[in-house]
Amino acid sequence: PRKFCVGGNWKCNGTVEEIKKIVNTLNAAADVPGEDVVEVVIGPPFVYIPLVKSILRPDFAIAGQNCWVKKGGAFTGEISAEMFKDLAIPWVILGHSERRALCGESNEFVADKVVYALSQGLKVMACVGETLQQRESGQTNDVVAAQTKAIADKVKDWKNVVIAYEPVWAIGTGKVATPAQAQEVHAALRSWLEKNVSSDVASKTRILYGGSVTAANCVEIGSQPDVDGFLVGGAALKPEFVDIIKAAN
Ligand code: 13P
Repeated sequence: PRKFCVGGNWKCNGTVEEIKKIVNTLNAAADVPGEDVVEVVIGPPFVYIPLVKSILRPDFAIAGQNCWVKKGGAFTGEISAEMFKDLAIPWVILGHSERRALCGESNEFVADKVVYALSQGLKVMACVGETLQQRESGQTNDVVAAQTKAIADKVKDWKNVVIAYEPVWAIGTGKVATPAQAQEVHAALRSWLEKNVSSDVASKTRILYGGSVTAANCVEIGSQPDVDGFLVGGAALKPEFVDIIKAAN
């Protein structure tokens, strides 16, 4: 049994005031399922991590949204995995499509980041997903497999890896994948893991869906057999994130 996991990726959003407000809303949510049922992970922008850590309820964990590919040093503007460890931040999101597309992160570079973050004891949400053009030309499963293969070629121990399947055409567009579309890719990804890594990794690795997840669509998507949670962008900044967490029930 894979524990449901709901990530909130705040991306490059928020002010101190707005962040206090959303954290207060999360903290006040009394009837969310317990940590034995759902793992909740919040990803604030780096500069707000200490603030969020100081006020967020302790049953919700914190993630960075990116980190450097190796040990810290002369890498201006970067944040290292060691720094997350130093602050006891357990998670990092890596390979988000915005970073792949806008910051030129290749499959190999993302895989190297995953390996280094794991080596430092971090838990990783590794993001994969196809563009609209790739989907329309029938390449979805190949693209997702290639992104996953780059990681699988380098990662030995999968216990701290969660995969987030985030079709690029669904991110921030309001065009959510149908439950059947999500299930189809999640199942293909799981069978890829089974064939190419191991049946143990395939059955234990959580695969989250991301892309225009809302309170209105999360229950149906989350009830698909191979969907083990969500990575939420826009709706993670709103009170409805609480309802998305409750979809774990
Ligand atoms: P939206 O939920 O805003 O579509 O973003 C999804 C996402 O990219 C989460 O990482």
